[in-house]
Amino acid sequence: MSKTNRTALILIFDSFLAIDLIHQRTPRREDRVQNRTVYIKGELYTLLSRLGSGKFASVWKSTTRDGQYAAVKVFDFNYSRNNINSGQRVRSFRNEIQMARRMREEMNYVATVYAVDLDRQRRMGFIAMELGNRPFRDKIEDLHQMHFQSPKTGYDYITAKDRKNIWIQLVNILCALYRHDIVHRDIKPANLVFFGSTLKIIDFGIAQDAVAQYNRHQRGGNHPYSAPECFTQYLPITSQADIWSAGSILYYLTYGKTPVYESPRPPSGAPQTKSPLVRNILYYSFQRNPNRRANLPWLVEHPLTKDKYALF
Ligand SMILES: *[C@@H]1O[C@H](CO)[C@@H](O)[C@H](O)[C@H]1NC(C)=O
Ligand SMILES: *[C@@H]1O[C@H](CO)[C@@H](O)[C@H](O)[C@H]1NC(C)=O
Repeated sequence: MSKTNRTALILIFDSFLAIDLIHQRTPRREDRVQNRTVYIKGELYTLLSRLGSGKFASVWKSTTRDGQYAAVKVFDFNYSRNNINSGQRVRSFRNEIQMARRMREEMNYVATVYAVDLDRQRRMGFIAMELGNRPFRDKIEDLHQMHFQSPKTGYDYITAKDRKNIWIQLVNILCALYRHDIVHRDIKPANLVFFGSTLKIIDFGIAQDAVAQYNRHQRGGNHPYSAPECFTQYLPITSQADIWSAGSILYYLTYGKTPVYESPRPPSGAPQTKSPLVRNILYYSFQRNPNRRANLPWLVEHPLTKDKYALF
């Protein structure tokens, strides 16, 4: 590399650093709502601490006046960030409400929505819902730590028993989505939460009706958990996209890492899992062609899902 090139590179890195520092100094706009009290269908919620931020909204651990905890999702429609404009935020808010309503009977698989409200003056939307105990990644980290305290267990990230248990719950979530003709399109660790030992899905920001397969305006998802067809203009996005994501989650449960190769290959340097059942599901989940990919009935009937005693 020539000297000028190297200087240019250093300059680029320096400017990235500068941007980072500016970000640290200026509080995020979404954090301005901290400690604020908002009315959601007549009930007062105080927003205590930010649990996370998605593309369209931020989620806050909140408390009601009688001391009940809830998660409150805050949509700030004036806010324009990450190329998301006001109209897209409004659409995502509506979509989320509509999907949550459709799934409201699936309490074992979807976080229950308590109330929804719109502050027209401040141009903000609120969704109050049940608060989980442990984010997905944290819980998997707990299970991983416990696994490695006992010497005689296997080689995967968490025990085969824990993995099977979480996998079955994930397949049940897929079945619930399927029953309601919903393609979630964004199944990933950040959208999964444990309520005790029950796994639920918490976000429907870009979920869509299973019949609206060619929605070209709302493509995308989150690498590396979303299927390849979510990022092209040519293929319909069907429930098969969620199968890819489920496979990615199984990969994460097995290797403790997000899949990087868009394939079942283990992370660099890691040995392949010894579980033929997991290898089999990963192989068929990571098929780029959605028609060759595993489908939901196949996953439901798979021994890892169905056979009570098949752990590996
Ligand atoms: C909210 O309250 C907490 C605790 O009282 C405090 O540490 C924090 O700085 C407050 N945040 C804002 C934005 O006022
Ligand atoms: C959004 O913009 C409107 C109109 O400019 C303003 O009245 C409102 O207070 C703003 N809301 C927030 C949360 O900044």
